Amino acid sequence: MTPTVTPPLSRLRCIACSRDYPLAEVRYECDACKGLLEVSHDLERLKRMQPSPSAWRALFEERLGAAAGPHQSGVWRYHELILPDLPLASIVSKPEGNTNLYRSPRLEALTGTGEVRIKHEGENPTLSFKDRGMTAGVSFARHLGVRAVACASTGDTSAALASYAAEVEGMRGVVVLPAGKVSAEQLSQPIASGCLTLSLPTDFDGCIRLLRDVCRRRPLYLLNSVNPLRIEGQKSIGFEIVQQLGWEPPDWIVVPVGNAGNISAIGKGLFEMRALGMIDRVPRLLGAQAASAAPLARACREGYRERVRVEAGDTVASAIRIGDPVSYDKAVKVVRESGGAFEQSGEQEIMDAKALVDATGVYICPNSATAVAAFLKARASGLIGKDERVVIVATAHGCKFSKATIDYHEGRLPGITPGRANRIVEVPAEARAIERLLPAGSEGPPQGGAKR
Ligand code: F0G
Repeated sequence: MTPTVTPPLSRLRCIACSRDYPLAEVRYECDACKGLLEVSHDLERLKRMQPSPSAWRALFEERLGAAAGPHQSGVWRYHELILPDLPLASIVSKPEGNTNLYRSPRLEALTGTGEVRIKHEGENPTLSFKDRGMTAGVSFARHLGVRAVACASTGDTSAALASYAAEVEGMRGVVVLPAGKVSAEQLSQPIASGCLTLSLPTDFDGCIRLLRDVCRRRPLYLLNSVNPLRIEGQKSIGFEIVQQLGWEPPDWIVVPVGNAGNISAIGKGLFEMRALGMIDRVPRLLGAQAASAAPLARACREGYRERVRVEAGDTVASAIRIGDPVSYDKAVKVVRESGGAFEQSGEQEIMDAKALVDATGVYICPNSATAVAAFLKARASGLIGKDERVVIVATAHGCKFSKATIDYHEGRLPGITPGRANRIVEVPAEARAIERLLPAGSEGPPQGGAKR
């Protein structure tokens, strides 16, 4: 008797011509048409793995209590929707995800909006959302027995790659960074993790072009988001948002966009969840770019007539300084299908939005602030309505970009008026000097009235 072989649940599929390939084939584009590849799951079979959509939801609720193992992770809690055929034993997890979804009463009051929340992805182990894609990418690389993994990066992907690769015995990481365009904190991460850290006199678009060329000739496993496996892990941001909201999707999810992998991933995941019956609608996606690197915002304004590529200019949002996003086509597809849009903001708008949110006690980075700025504009124009429920994705922690924060508050950012500055005050080392500067409510005797 011949044994029955269960076909895999996932394959690679070209988004342009639908040609498909086995998942374990290392490839980043379609052989036939050079189109982008995505992981395509057999959703009908997945659907039948549980008796009903509510059984899927119950399973993911139950795993919230996992005390050990990959299901603790905010990515691998959704294992069956991420990489169902990947054995749990292959997974490299810290664990990541499970980030806070902060309600922001002050943003709600300021903008007159029903509900506004910030999903703080800076609370991941390497302080950015990239850990979600990287746990998927590095786990799969380990499963394949890959020895060297590589990425080009504006900083955060390299930090995540370095940290996950460092956990795998015998795996080496290689990161290719644009010289002088990565923050000191970001740069310190791959160095600390023992990665081969290369600094090139070009921009991100130049770095990734060169690395893709090297990967065509050498057995390096490319872990930029052009690798569809990364996207699968990244999808979990959207899953977590709807689970945290009691499976009631928000009306909008606002996401900063650089290489456009993240917004594509969030959209893909939510459309899959809808196909599985776990949610009844997909939120509208608003992609946010910095005006000096805004090919997608321009394409949106022009009705997506043609693919836009720009040479990216300087911006405080250095992690999204990308003129030719790799996942352009995927991003346009999900944003349009969701009924969403792309918006761009200038440097002043970005830094003011950052200071606004930072001052509420949620410390975000300039890239994330681009999403806040886009939200403010969309609210002002009426694109986002007053009764709508909005989630803004903060992609990295403010601590990764301390120079931009301090320079803003000290009035040292060229061309930017620090309208919300909180200046550092230098004082002599004397108690009286401190007392003279204390805020209202600090007058009179100490609390309790007693002299100490
Ligand atoms: N926010 C931060 C903090 C980022 O680091 C990135 C991308 C994005 C937003 C945009 O996400 O590229 O998926 O559209 N950083 C990449 C990197 C390019 O190399 O770290 P995207």
